[in-house]
Amino acid sequence: MANRNFSETTLTAEALRRIARAPDARAKQVMTSLIRHLHGFVREVRPTPDELDRGIRFLTEVGKWCDDKRQEFVLLSDTTGVTILVDFINYGKVGNATESTVLGPFFVEGAPEMPMGASIAAAGTPGEPCVASGTVNDMHGKPIGGALIEVWEAQGDGFYDVQKSGGMNARARFRTGPDGRYSFRCVKPTSYPIPHDGPVGHMLRATGRHPMRPGHLHFKISAPGFDTLVTHLFVKGDEYLDSDAVFGVKRSLIVDFRRNRAGEYECRYDFVLKPEGLRKLPAKKKAAPKRKTKKKK
Ligand code: BEZ
Ligand code: FE
Repeated sequence: MANRNFSETTLTAEALRRIARAPDARAKQVMTSLIRHLHGFVREVRPTPDELDRGIRFLTEVGKWCDDKRQEFVLLSDTTGVTILVDFINYGKVGNATESTVLGPFFVEGAPEMPMGASIAAAGTPGEPCVASGTVNDMHGKPIGGALIEVWEAQGDGFYDVQKSGGMNARARFRTGPDGRYSFRCVKPTSYPIPHDGPVGHMLRATGRHPMRPGHLHFKISAPGFDTLVTHLFVKGDEYLDSDAVFGVKRSLIVDFRRNRAGEYECRYDFVLKPEGLRKLPAKKKAAPKRKTKKKK
């Protein structure tokens, strides 16, 4: 006879038994793990009914803050480290290929395509002038021509164009020539807070965290036959490098933005793309054992 008297200790097994014959194997795996972890979380935290209600109201608020301009669930995923954990799992470091990091909510499709050397920041954009340049190569150092470089950044006042009026600014697309080189002008990235006027900001304050991100330039680089690279270049010396609100900093992506003779900042970085689908380097073939040569008598 079916057991109807579940207890704190038997409930999880029953919840799992009910999805044991789920037709979709991945859905079954995901839900099995989710139920196990959620039940484990509840057993550990032992919330009161009032706390459960507060948790549900928090998630409801997160949903209510979402629209086509604001994605509070993505912010929740970013600030809890879930987004970068998924990034680690799917795009772990492979050889000398450039490391990836979070996309963030401010990428916009269809930024204007500009000639190399152009400024992505319109005249009058707040911020200090900066020139970014380098190459896009494959893992053997061969230039990748025809790579699409999409770049975007917050302006010197800490806001992206989509957070203020005035249309697209401080974002553009460039196409590398056969030499794989890129160069453009921009403003030196400065640290800025992620949107924190909603429930995620409330969660950060309640847990004693700040909402700041260290200054960075965003890049999305794609080329046929290569994995699309989504990454940032961070400003060396920024005070938030060790406490980025979304855990996006990787040492290999920190660049010394130096002033040149003209007083502008310069950022130089060579990107390396990996072949499409490459998740780890092929194992090195073991060298054949050396044959012993007989000593001449
Ligand atoms: C950003 O880089 O702009 C960003 C990334 C994650 C969350 C919020 C903002
Ligand atoms: Fe950003």
